Formats: sequence, structure tokens, C-alpha cells
Amino acid sequence: MRPAAFYDSVADEYDAPRHEVFYRHLAEVALDLLPPALKISRIIEIGAGTGFGTEILSERYPAAAILAVEPAAAMRAHGVIHVPSAQFESTVPADHAAADLVACFVAAHWLTPAERDDLVALAEGGALVLTMPVSPGSDLEDGNLELAKLVREFRERPTWERSARRTRDFAQSLGERFDIVAVEPVDVVDTYATPEDLAASLYVRGSLGSLFGDRAAEARERLTALAWSGATIKFRWRFDRIVAHSR
Ligand SMILES: C[S@@+](CC[C@H](N)C(=O)[O-])C[C@H]1O[C@@H](n2cnc3c(N)ncnc32)[C@H](O)[C@@H]1O
Repeated sequence: MRPAAFYDSVADEYDAPRHEVFYRHLAEVALDLLPPALKISRIIEIGAGTGFGTEILSERYPAAAILAVEPAAAMRAHGVIHVPSAQFESTVPADHAAADLVACFVAAHWLTPAERDDLVALAEGGALVLTMPVSPGSDLEDGNLELAKLVREFRERPTWERSARRTRDFAQSLGERFDIVAVEPVDVVDTYATPEDLAASLYVRGSLGSLFGDRAAEARERLTALAWSGATIKFRWRFDRIVAHSR
């Protein structure tokens, strides 16, 4: 299933308070790394989803015009309700105005290499802020350990290292054209009441899709069926925040 089709299928579940708190926080801590003196009047956001990050952008930069690009129509339908002042589009319009800031919160890992190049090109002359999921390395919580077991069972070898490498490679390629202001990790530890809650969160946010592709629904069922004796399950999410601006 293509990413946009997947997010179309979960848009209503995605647009829930638990996810809103999570994604708003990630957008806030990424924007915290931007130099405060930056003058921002035009923003392009790529992979805007249901507008959680868009809303933070509109709060931080109330006078800025925001173009929020999101390919999944059902996600956009929520986005226009959250942030009516933003212009939501399925792709970047050919006649778009240049942006002072290009933002991409937890979406760049879904882009093809060509789309990632386009994202970087959009930021020429301005600033860029991204969050990209990476593996939490050795700081694994019990939920991460269960997921790791499933990865080993479903696949020949885990793909954890790939995510960290992808972010490093991306930051390095940016460094050829931009001044890198920061590449910093941020962790969020979520607590779930049941394996079903954990499985739903990993599924709806797209983590199971990026790890297991077409077997994501099967992975969700397997995690849902975990025999769990503890009071809660913790899961550690780690993201790299990348902030850069044009030379
Ligand atoms: C995990 S969600 C993040 C949404 C939003 N940025 C937030 O913070 O809540 C990932 C989003 O990336 C979008 N996406 C997937 N492929 C994309 C692409 N090729 N171009 C732009 N967005 C894409 C998905 O449709 C989805 O809404």
C-alpha cells in the first residue's frame, strides 16, 4: 500500500488527542532549535498530515502564509479544520511562492530520494526544519523489545541501523548546500495500558508500515495478542531534529 493510501485509511484514528499531544510536541521541540531572529513570512510544510505540526507553525508564526502539502485526502480533510488559515494541497503547486521556512515533521522518511531533493530545493534561500524517526539504540523500553522480537521473527535482519544512517546521510548531503544549525535527538516515552493500545499507536502512526510493509496489519494483530502481565507498557520513540539554513 502506498503511504498516502495507508494514511487515508487511518486518518480518523490518527486525528486523536493521544497523537495530537505527541506530534505537537515533536513540532515544538524541532522549532525550538530555529534561531529566534529568523524572519519568516512564508512557510511550506511537506507531509502535513492532519495539521498537528501546521497548527504549531501557525501559533509560532501567526503572520506567516502557510502552504501545507499532504497527499492523503482524508488527512487533509482534518487539516483544514485544525488550521483553516493554512492552504492545504496534495502536492506543491507549480506557481508556489518561495518559502523562508520549509518544515517536514515525521514525514521525510516516506519521501523518495527525488522527493527529498525537491524538499531541499524548496528550502534554497531559506531555512529547513525536519524531524526524522531513528532507532533508540540501546535505551529500549519493554514495548521496544517486543517490537524487536517481531522484527526478528518477520524479517531476516532488523532495519534499526538503516534509519540512523538515512538521517546521517541526509544531514551530510544538506551540509554541502546549507549551514547545519543542529542535528539533535529527542526522545518521547509513551505509556500504554494494554498491548492493543501499543499496537494501535504503532500502526496508526505508520511505524508498523515502515517496518513491515504489507505485513503491517498482521504485525498489529500479533502485538495486540501479546500476553502482558505488567500494569503498563512503555515505548521509547526517538527522532532526530535537523535544522539548517541556506548559506
Ligand atoms: C507520521 S505522518 C506525520 C504528519 C504530520 N507531519 C504530523 O506531524 O502529524 C506522515 C505523513 O507523511 C505523509 N506522506 C507520505 N508520503 C508522502 C509524500 N511522498 N509526500 C508528502 N507527504 C507524504 C503521509 O500521508 C502522512 O500524513
